[in-house]
Amino acid sequence: MRNSRTEPAPLRGALFAQLGGAAAVLLLVAGLGQLTAVDFGQIPFILALLQGGIAALISLWLRAPNWWQPIHLGFMPLVVAVQQIGIAPGWFLAAFVLLLLVFWRTDKSRVPLYLTNRATAAALLKLLPATPCHVIDLGCGDGGLLRRLAAARPDCCFAGIEHAPLTCLVAKLRALGQPNLTIRYGDFWEEPLGAYDLVYIFLSPAPMPRLWVKASAEMAPAALLVSNSFEVPGIEPDESLVVADRRNTRLFLYHPARRG
Ligand SMILES: C[S@@+](CC[C@H](N)C(=O)[O-])C[C@H]1O[C@@H](n2cnc3c(N)ncnc32)[C@H](O)[C@@H]1O
Repeated sequence: MRNSRTEPAPLRGALFAQLGGAAAVLLLVAGLGQLTAVDFGQIPFILALLQGGIAALISLWLRAPNWWQPIHLGFMPLVVAVQQIGIAPGWFLAAFVLLLLVFWRTDKSRVPLYLTNRATAAALLKLLPATPCHVIDLGCGDGGLLRRLAAARPDCCFAGIEHAPLTCLVAKLRALGQPNLTIRYGDFWEEPLGAYDLVYIFLSPAPMPRLWVKASAEMAPAALLVSNSFEVPGIEPDESLVVADRRNTRLFLYHPARRG
């Protein structure tokens, strides 16, 4: 199985494509500058479009996923357009810091922030054992799901781990006054899973193979792994459920320790 740690970092490829596009345009401008009297300073938007086109082609050549090409095409033209509006640079820094605190190292984890909806939370509630149990949400986001579960099942203990600082702070604040809910700041790869009856994940395709190895090695024999939307590649789930919500969310159920 491939380990998500060994997959190439997508940002490196994106940077390579952007720099490649910029280098090509600089070379073109330097070459044409010798031959023509065109003032390239007057056509920054056209140069930006050209840079974006070349970057998109490089990204295509690198076999980056399709959604990268419009990003490359639009990135530099957008930078040029926004520069002309004259927004103070501090706002860009503030927006960057805010995004970083909410999404943290999505480039590394390959897991962005999106939240479990109410209908899926209700379906998950039905999967909890009837007796008191321990549940963990790996990458608990804003803690909304856990808060709902913890309020519905005061006899069970719920835990969440989140590595994005601002998102984790929100989750911690939401857990206040809910004695059976604990939110910890940290990396869920460091969390031993042996003590939990149910492990819930809503991640992305990227970490699933590595998560399966961890869950198979650490989870108790009867413990249940529930994955929202993303299957473990190459492993047939023991059961799968379709939630009656707008996106027909699928929950994949595994008993990793029995299968590993
Ligand atoms: C798709 S969101 C799911 C949020 C929540 N579990 C829910 O279902 O509403 C995934 C979360 O996992 C977090 N995450 C990703 N990798 C992580 C890691 N290694 N350790 C802790 N949190 C992580 C992300 O920051 C993000 O908030």
